Amino acid sequence: MHRIILDTDPGLDDALALFLALASPEVQLVAITTVSGNVHIDLTTRNALTLLELTGRTDIPLARGCDRPIIRQPVIADYVHGHNGLGGIELPEPQLQPVSQHAVDLIIEKVMAAPREIILVPIGPLTNIAMALRKEPRIAEYVREVVIMGGALRVPGNVTPEAEFNIYADPHAAHMVFHAGWPIRLVTLDVTNKTLLQREQVQALASNSSPVTRLIQQMVVNFLDRFGQSRGITAFQMHDPLCLAAAFQPEIITWEPAYVDVELAGSLTLGETVAYFAKRTEDIDPSLEYLHPPNMLTSIGVDVERFISLYIDRIKSTFQ
Ligand code: RIB
Ligand code: CA
Repeated sequence: MHRIILDTDPGLDDALALFLALASPEVQLVAITTVSGNVHIDLTTRNALTLLELTGRTDIPLARGCDRPIIRQPVIADYVHGHNGLGGIELPEPQLQPVSQHAVDLIIEKVMAAPREIILVPIGPLTNIAMALRKEPRIAEYVREVVIMGGALRVPGNVTPEAEFNIYADPHAAHMVFHAGWPIRLVTLDVTNKTLLQREQVQALASNSSPVTRLIQQMVVNFLDRFGQSRGITAFQMHDPLCLAAAFQPEIITWEPAYVDVELAGSLTLGETVAYFAKRTEDIDPSLEYLHPPNMLTSIGVDVERFISLYIDRIKSTFQ
């Protein structure tokens, strides 16, 4: 069983990641924590509550988190995800309320109560995760691993030429998380850009009897018509769902150890993730030292067909 805490900023692809988590028998969703990112925390929290209520899984504790980055001025991505974070699709006000605990405290409580069991899966800016590290540094030894959606290593960024949104939105938090010494898998744009859900696939998935599959269709079609059309984007990039899948089926991705750091000082390159890939002894002068020992596993390849099939099969079998 993969016991996961999902830290999220719904967000269209966040919503699809949450549905995959709830549709996967290997996953026990221990808690959901929200963070400011794609849109402000008030909206990411409302959206997460609405999505959870839609699936009926109101048994899962949901805690509201940090409302701004640790140092930089806040940036949002409502131009991508719509003014309300879910493509402008109006959903009923949730009856479900978040727990009274702050997300940082809920993360600490759950991780410390289950040594080496909890997988943290942050799919938004890393603010909550960094603040949890500062409040209880021991979580770095107590987590099973941290599987992060963020960064761009050998491909351009998606919010600036160099930076991916989750890292750019709170680069100082990312720096703290990358250097905490805990086991990290980094799922970057290098692979998530390739995992595309097609319009036809969500139209085939949607069924009148299922509000979840109908919402998936609405969100993806809305994104493609509202945002994609003017940019030549004809399919939906599954950034967050792939990251979630990597937490319970890491073999979907090809991993490479690397030392990855975050640019904090560059005016043009703030939030850039820079990777020093672990060198193989046979192709370098053995007298050379590693510039830095690897601090994480990075995603350098993905079995796209296997992942998309997994996604569609899981959603069909659970929500149709
Ligand atoms: O760059 C993609 C990431 O930024 C995804 O997590 C998406 O939801 C946005 O937060
Ligand atoms: Ca996200």
